[in-house]
Amino acid sequence: MPNLSRRQFLSRTGMLAGGTYPAMLAMGMLRAAPVKPFKLEGRHSGKHVIILGAGLAGMTAAYELLKQGYQCTILEARNRSGGRCWSVRSNSTNTETDQPVQTARFDEGLYYNAGPSRIPHHHQLTLHYCKELKVPIQVYNNVNEASYFFSEGKGRLSYKKVRAREIHNDVRGYMCEMLAKAIDNKQLDAAMTKEDGEKIIEYLKAEGGLEPDKLYKGLSRRGYKVSPGAGNKAGELADPYRLSDILSSGLMDPDFYNVAEYTYELQMSMFQAIGGMDMIAKALEKEVGRNILFNSEVSSIKNTPGGVAIVYKNKEGEHTLNGDLCICTIPLPVLSNIEHNFSADVSRAIDYISYISTGKIGLQFKRRFWEEDEQVYGGITHTNNELTQIFYPSYDYLSQKGILVGYYNFNDKAKKTGGLNYQQREQLALEKGSLIHPQYKTEFENSFSVSWHKTKYSLGGWALYSNEERQTVYKAMLQPDKQVYFAGEHLTYLNAWMAGAFESARSVVDAVHARSMSGN
Ligand code: ALA
Repeated sequence: MPNLSRRQFLSRTGMLAGGTYPAMLAMGMLRAAPVKPFKLEGRHSGKHVIILGAGLAGMTAAYELLKQGYQCTILEARNRSGGRCWSVRSNSTNTETDQPVQTARFDEGLYYNAGPSRIPHHHQLTLHYCKELKVPIQVYNNVNEASYFFSEGKGRLSYKKVRAREIHNDVRGYMCEMLAKAIDNKQLDAAMTKEDGEKIIEYLKAEGGLEPDKLYKGLSRRGYKVSPGAGNKAGELADPYRLSDILSSGLMDPDFYNVAEYTYELQMSMFQAIGGMDMIAKALEKEVGRNILFNSEVSSIKNTPGGVAIVYKNKEGEHTLNGDLCICTIPLPVLSNIEHNFSADVSRAIDYISYISTGKIGLQFKRRFWEEDEQVYGGITHTNNELTQIFYPSYDYLSQKGILVGYYNFNDKAKKTGGLNYQQREQLALEKGSLIHPQYKTEFENSFSVSWHKTKYSLGGWALYSNEERQTVYKAMLQPDKQVYFAGEHLTYLNAWMAGAFESARSVVDAVHARSMSGN
């Protein structure tokens, strides 16, 4: 394309208007998203596979098996598909074990992801299914230097919201300063040549933003008190926080360890489905919906000679469904209460494997004050109180209203907030949240909270394993129990991720197909 810039070429050919993705791919102008189409050798028809659960694992298993000519019936206890892959919208409902049914009063068009909200860039299979099922995605802003750290404690920075960029840069600066000093004073016991020591010091000066005297005195990376502008407005820097204040205020305590952002799974880039993460579930449902029996609660799973018999209840009563094979994706805390005739090893694993307690609350506000007043666009504020985190939406920027995830907590904090009723959870989220954002007091409209360990048909966030459990109970469930296979994030090393559901579904479909093709 001589004499044409890439952008000119794209506009002339109308490619920027959309719909020309394949053409651009064909011309080598875009790199293909990683695609791993699932190819099974040999077509099989006739076998009836009963799939328990219309979450991502169950629907993906059905989707792939149907492609190969299997008969599939999916039994789903809820009146919706997706399981934990669920976005709460206007009129969404949820049932927790000891609470009345909750109905969301969010405005039409607003939503938050009560379950998965972010896709790591290396979860190729998740991105593959987004592509195969034509679910558009957008970037999820997981790391935002403009978000806050908020500590309830004793130090001078407690009960103040401090920007992540201030703490990050101050701490980095002080750490670099200390290390440079230690190298200068030969206090490191690492064997180091003079040249290496000098190189490391140069690196620390750059990394920490140290002055020529190797001291950290603050810098523009940590933001401005008065922003730079036109003419004489050079901007005004604030002094850095004192390390002793940062420490005594608890801002270097485990609640604020930065490492979460460095974990392989949470490194940017991250993605989300446009319009809510359950667009992925909805796209799968479009493919396999005719095979799903909703409102069908399984009460018994039995291997029979050469097949399976599944008992389920729906509005009409109790039914028995017979099939050749079964893929059970029911979360283990739920499966633990279902009658079965599995082996002792499998039965023990089902009862033993623990799931995390976790909860979120969506808070609808009539104004996106975090964007308008505070320039926070996506990302996460960290606290050491019950909220643990506040998530700002990475979508619909600059629109009028929005939903914040007012808390996303785990373990004891999740148990504590989950133990409250819906009204009390809202009060807690508002009371603690307004310490950070006083705008909560005037802008709040309504809320919807989900405590996953108390949510019917889930009873937990995701499976948790110790190294020892990986060698014992985990392994017991990787094999089929006669005709019953197990699938879901709990049977992977991708716990808590949609990728776990997809990988596990494929792995089980592979096994089912291999068995069928071998005539068993
Ligand atoms: N995958 C879960 C999350 O993104 C743990 O928070």
